[in-house]
Amino acid sequence: MENQGKILVVDDEEVIRSLLKDALTDLGYEVTTCPNGQSGIKEGTSNSFDTVITDIRLPDIDGIHLLGEIKKADPEAVVIVVTGYPSFDSVRDALKLGAHDYLTKPFNIDEITFTIKKAVLFRQTLKRNKELVEELERKNMLLEQQNAILEVRVKERTANLQKLYSDLRKTYIDTIKAFADALDAKDHYTRSHSENVTRIAVKIAEQLGLSSNEIEDIREAAQLHDLGKIGIDDVVLRKPGKLNDEEWEKIKSHPLKGAQILEHLGYLKNITEIIKQHHEKYDGTGYPVGLKGTEIKLGARIVSLADSFEAMTSERPYRKTPLKKEEAINEIKKNSGTQFDPMIVETFLKIVDKF
Ligand SMILES: [Fe+2]
Repeated sequence: MENQGKILVVDDEEVIRSLLKDALTDLGYEVTTCPNGQSGIKEGTSNSFDTVITDIRLPDIDGIHLLGEIKKADPEAVVIVVTGYPSFDSVRDALKLGAHDYLTKPFNIDEITFTIKKAVLFRQTLKRNKELVEELERKNMLLEQQNAILEVRVKERTANLQKLYSDLRKTYIDTIKAFADALDAKDHYTRSHSENVTRIAVKIAEQLGLSSNEIEDIREAAQLHDLGKIGIDDVVLRKPGKLNDEEWEKIKSHPLKGAQILEHLGYLKNITEIIKQHHEKYDGTGYPVGLKGTEIKLGARIVSLADSFEAMTSERPYRKTPLKKEEAINEIKKNSGTQFDPMIVETFLKIVDKF
């Protein structure tokens, strides 16, 4: 017969020990017996039993004390106390100390069998639950460790991707800048123009307290703002006199041409928009669309002012003598609210002395 569980019987009466041992062995339990409290404590605390049955009255120490010692060693031990006399107090004390159940003498064999089966089942369920909880905790810990490893890997990959993205963006911008530099270099009058516009635009953006990303977009857009002039005939670009309508239309196409060069790169969208709008005017009379007020991106309103100020104070094909700084500042003030955003003009005036 399959072992149904281990049981310890502590009782000073030989006849009771024999009775319980025989009855329980017949039911498939492995039974150990002890004749007194001390041997019961020794046995019950050094081995694991599914159920301990102890008489409350023992010759050396009482069963309540034995119960306490066993529970101290194993708080989940299942102990049944046996009382030879119906004593409410002793049963209550035993239950308070954690006794699982109690039996009264004289024994009724069916009652004993039922109580013990129930107790052993309870203990085994308790043990199984504990094992399951431990198993679950172990698996959770494993899962947490794996998650932590995965998290580190994801972070590493994300960092690598971000670096790759930023390298790619930088490489592209550098290539485009080389084109813009080539444009500046071939035209005596626009040499350093883009760099000066960038310096002024970034100062205005910083004074406005824009985020570092916004400032970077403005810096790159300012450097490339006239990129579209690559596609315009040198003769028109360098013409010293007044432009005819056809030539003027060609010049006016450069914001769109510049945007077209960059527009297939989604991550340069902000820069592309600023380049496209850098000749729009605050009152809606600019080109290529005729956007008005805040329809024009903030970056484009900033680059527009920086571009105009720089152009006024530099030598041009159509104007050999540049305006003096004070004259250019007056021009900017005069066009506040028409060509330029008054808020940008105000910001510009605060820092123009530093240029
Ligand atoms: Fe331009």
